[in-house]
Amino acid sequence: MNMASLVPLVYILASVLFAFGLKFLGSPETARRGNQLSALGMLLAVVATLAGHHIIGWQWILLGLAIGSGLGALVAVKAAMTQMPEMVALLHGCGALASVFVDWVHYEKKHSAFIFSIGGVEAFTLYVSIVLGALTFTGSLIAWAKLSERMPGRPITFPGQQWINGLILLGILVSGVLFLMNPVRIDLFYVFLALSALFGIFMVIPIGGADMPVVISVLNSYSGVVACTTGFVINNTLLIVVGALVGANGIILSIIMCKAMNRSLGNVLFGAFGAAIKKAAAGEKKEAKSLTIPDAFLILEAARSVVITPGYGLAVAQAQHAVRELDEQLEKNGAEVRYAIHPVAGRMPGHMNVLLAEANIPYDKLLEMEHINPTMENVDVCIVIGANDTVNPAALHDKTSPIYGMPIIETFKAKTVFVIKRSMAAGFAGIENELFYYDNTRMIFGDAKDVVQKLVAEFKTK
Ligand code: TAP
Repeated sequence: MNMASLVPLVYILASVLFAFGLKFLGSPETARRGNQLSALGMLLAVVATLAGHHIIGWQWILLGLAIGSGLGALVAVKAAMTQMPEMVALLHGCGALASVFVDWVHYEKKHSAFIFSIGGVEAFTLYVSIVLGALTFTGSLIAWAKLSERMPGRPITFPGQQWINGLILLGILVSGVLFLMNPVRIDLFYVFLALSALFGIFMVIPIGGADMPVVISVLNSYSGVVACTTGFVINNTLLIVVGALVGANGIILSIIMCKAMNRSLGNVLFGAFGAAIKKAAAGEKKEAKSLTIPDAFLILEAARSVVITPGYGLAVAQAQHAVRELDEQLEKNGAEVRYAIHPVAGRMPGHMNVLLAEANIPYDKLLEMEHINPTMENVDVCIVIGANDTVNPAALHDKTSPIYGMPIIETFKAKTVFVIKRSMAAGFAGIENELFYYDNTRMIFGDAKDVVQKLVAEFKTK
């Protein structure tokens, strides 16, 4: 049996590994195994493809592997948890670029052959692949630049923007139709390639940093579709399977994120583009009441049921290990400690789960919104750590609020609510939080890690 005949078998094995990898990613407990299985599938697929098809010499494979792995390891080690969304944007942007290169080389090879032959379906798939691939690449780069603050995160708009977008789209369509009528026209190929790359930029610049995680998820989905169409172009079944898996997952994730933010996908991509709206808290304006650490300790010492509600500030402060210590102290003191996890707390799906898992907080203590909310009235103290929008009661009743309709963690129902944050500043949505002014709310100002560590110290010295 030669290498080439083994390739389809390895592809099937790799597809199965990817499918199981994805399934395992569904739960924090098995996610690590899921990642490892998928990585193994990818390694098998790459080696089988290169070895089976005698594409390039081993020296190039090794060089590519060394450079790619080196860069990947460096970026992964250097990236902080809060930089994950921008890193994901960059990585799938590179994936889309790789697909574009494969399609491009495929077309150039056909074009320079003695007899040019390309079927109608192949030309169409190539066109779709190049258009989506090019716009995904440039769009992802803009998303990365916005999230990493290399570019202003606010929506960038200018007069006539819609017209320019419309004209670019028209150019992509017209050059595409002409190309499909006569696929030997390499000039048209270059035109829709360049216009699509331009469209990616114009598509993402008007979207505000606030909606960027959803945009990244959508672009991630596109990069899967591009891999899939590239699979059709070069007749590679594994690319088709993997691309379809990524494409479907990305779009499901985008929809889940939109639902949790009470937005539609269309609204995120083409709507108000995340412009931050400043708005005063509804109702009568009251003073927020602050609490000192020793007083907070006294209340916590008497609490029997405590719920910790983490948000983006926990990630910024890297307070997860301190939180585990506080959890241990509270339990030692006889309290039951649980965590309320909002699906869009933080800046990426599963952000809080990942952080808390890093600090070895048992998964069974992490409860989703729909499970924790009905029990909130019996909670003695709910400690909100660096969360803001995801606990804002305006989302439940204030129809004028930009977050109206977004389900929240109903912390305000607890007997006492502690809010740990540095100031009265707004969260991601740019709106004031009326929870801070509730009678049962006490603000504990400071960096989350610092405050939690001080609370732990109080327990230790009691
Ligand atoms: P946010 O509403 O973003 O609020 C985070 C709060 O953390 C801020 O008000 C900030 O207040 C505080 N903070 C920052 N650094 C801190 C530190 N070192 N110590 C203590 N507090 C700190 O957080 P959230 O409740 O997690 O909501 C997430 C938001 O992101 C939602 O609006 C959601 O729609 C949006 N979003 C999330 C996702 C995903 S997938 N997670 C995707 C798209 C959009 P101070 O500055 O006063 O400290």
